[in-house]
Amino acid sequence: MIPQMASKRLRKILFTIALLAIFCLFIKWNFAGICILCLKKSEVTSFKRDSGNFLELPHIDCSKSPPFLVILVTSSHNQNKERMAIRETWGKEKLIFNKLITTCFLLGTTPKPDDQIAISTENVKYGDIIQKDFIDAYYNLTLKTMMGIEWVHKFCPQSSFVMKTDSDVFVNTYYLTELLLRKKRSTRFFTGFLKLNERPIRQALSKWHVSKEEYPANTYPPFCSGTGYVFSTDVASQVYNISENVLFVKLEDVFIGLCLAELNVKLEELHSKQTFFPERLEFSPCRFKKIVTSHFVKPHELLIYWNALERSMDEKCPR
Ligand SMILES: *[C@@H]1O[C@H](CO)[C@@H](O)[C@H](O)[C@H]1NC(C)=O
Ligand SMILES: *[C@@H]1O[C@H](CO)[C@@H](O)[C@H](O)[C@H]1NC(C)=O
Repeated sequence: MIPQMASKRLRKILFTIALLAIFCLFIKWNFAGICILCLKKSEVTSFKRDSGNFLELPHIDCSKSPPFLVILVTSSHNQNKERMAIRETWGKEKLIFNKLITTCFLLGTTPKPDDQIAISTENVKYGDIIQKDFIDAYYNLTLKTMMGIEWVHKFCPQSSFVMKTDSDVFVNTYYLTELLLRKKRSTRFFTGFLKLNERPIRQALSKWHVSKEEYPANTYPPFCSGTGYVFSTDVASQVYNISENVLFVKLEDVFIGLCLAELNVKLEELHSKQTFFPERLEFSPCRFKKIVTSHFVKPHELLIYWNALERSMDEKCPR
């Protein structure tokens, strides 16, 4: 009787230990998984310009019809819904105050040939894709953004302004155009949600982790949140030109900030009131009439917000 009970208890203990071990293994594996991502060989190197040819180009002739504003949207092959929603809403090519606004998507590549066929087919249909051959990964966002800037420099220097944003952002192109026209700036202009006193995050588990080897200094230069920044097109060429001499940082908005510091281009507010929101704002037509960006918007929400915004264009809002 007694030895049997003891063995039962022993089994229970062993079972608990086994569970704990599995739990720990899982956690450890998970940590390792994250760390493989974040501690990848950090190279203190400068950015490599002109790496590779464009695989896809948008069907836009900037010399014939120069856009007032080119909007570059970071995207990936599986974000069809997001791209379609943007094409039907703020990304629809159109004239605003008689100024041409045009939108392009920035994509990298995946190892699957089917994905490439899908992207090429999509570009035949919509003609709004810019793509180069680099692996589409979060930590390649700097490559993706610089590809867009290279495209503007080489194919669309006739445009007046460039915006870089993400596929989960609501952009009020009407208000942005109005504010850019009012601002009357044409060169060395850079605006967005200003981040003036940011520091590198050294915690290994953060998505924005940057090691001392990658970026030794304790502060970042002023930069604008990657969720949406806007600059005069001359800045694109200058950033493209200087990028070779700038430390490569995988956080694209910080990298652009480093380029701007090198170029001595100062960040400016577009309006005395905040208009760029790196966070999510609750939607109301009156509120969204007076903003430029709001983050974390799903494709179906984009359609609802945009329709409501366009319907209420002529309605008065409380000041
Ligand atoms: C970025 O793209 C390059 C070129 O395809 C690739 O070698 C590298 O592994 C990619 N980086 C990440 C973090 O996937
Ligand atoms: C490009 O950058 C170099 C320095 O790296 C500078 O001497 C040159 O003037 C720049 N050219 C343009 C067109 O900005």
